[in-house]
Amino acid sequence: MKRILVTGALGQIGAELVTALRERYEADNVVASDIRMPARAVDPDGPFEYVDCTERRQLDEAVRKYQVDSIYHLASLLSATAEEKPHVAWNVNMGGLYRVLEVARENRCAVFFPSSIGAFGPSTPPHKTPQDTLQRPTTMYGVTKVAGELLCDYYYRRFGVDTRGLRYPGLISYVAPPGGGTTDYAVEIFYAAIRNRRYICFLGPHTCLDMMYMPDAIKAAIDLMNADPARLRHRNAFNVTAVNFTPEQLAAEIRKHIPEFTVEYEVDPVRQAIADSWPNSLDDSAARDEWDWQPEYDLEAMTRDMLENLRVKLKAG
Ligand code: NAD
Ligand code: SER
Repeated sequence: MKRILVTGALGQIGAELVTALRERYEADNVVASDIRMPARAVDPDGPFEYVDCTERRQLDEAVRKYQVDSIYHLASLLSATAEEKPHVAWNVNMGGLYRVLEVARENRCAVFFPSSIGAFGPSTPPHKTPQDTLQRPTTMYGVTKVAGELLCDYYYRRFGVDTRGLRYPGLISYVAPPGGGTTDYAVEIFYAAIRNRRYICFLGPHTCLDMMYMPDAIKAAIDLMNADPARLRHRNAFNVTAVNFTPEQLAAEIRKHIPEFTVEYEVDPVRQAIADSWPNSLDDSAARDEWDWQPEYDLEAMTRDMLENLRVKLKAG
């Protein structure tokens, strides 16, 4: 039986990953941790620890206390926040990962590290971006993701730490709100459609990016961590993707369910520049070949499920 620590567990991914891991490995074996304290009703079934990932002692204590053998390291600043606070982003994203890897090395833990489409930049081939290609990102977020991918590879080769990772596209979910990313519009738009029948989008109508519904993102992380190591040629930073659309196309899909829904565009130059520096679409054939990655949700299924679940959550009827 695995014993798992999740850092940044109260964020958009962690809120659902912890639940999925607890269903699979039993609640007591999955320790949620964050620098925020959980609301009373969040994750009542399993342990929670305050762990700042930049504080090695706190990581070490949690790993030893619960005899952790796997760390899902989610704590991070996302792209838009990282551009606002690049020094904090460097400290949390790189300092946190370095300490997680050191604690993993000393305690013989496996590590999951989520990278991003943000690890690519304007000189990367933008269409069907290959698994192995140019990575010269122009954001602090991207710099920390590329460096993080390399550091995870280094800890595997140099110290034998079982590091594995994914390059996620934008993630769409209804359980926890997104945490300050460039792709947050693709979540906000659903809340606005249900509440106001109107959304003001901060990216332009034709900005094409890869996206993924959270159940697929959770499945990808757990499947990769359980994949046969003998088949993994890449280990870290697998491109994974599920759907591909522009704000205009997502709005049209939502309009099939809410015909009166309208979108206006007030482009935020900072987030638009970040999005424009990222690929339009990823080639995820390495993940499909090496550990049988296969998403379940397309745009239609994701939109239907998001609206159904958000209506219940918001009690909007
Ligand atoms: P999020 O912003 O929703 O959550 C991050 C969590 O980390 C927050 O709960 C925050 O309180 C916590 N945190 C911040 N600083 C911390 C610190 N010093 N120590 C411990 N915890 C700290 O992020 P998310 O969307 O859940 O993303 C998790 C990971 O996945 C990140 O590495 C992110 O870059 C990556 N990722 C996310 C997406 C996406 O669309 N959500 C896409 C690609 C990659
Ligand atoms: N969704 C993330 C962001 O926009 C991508 O890594 O920051």
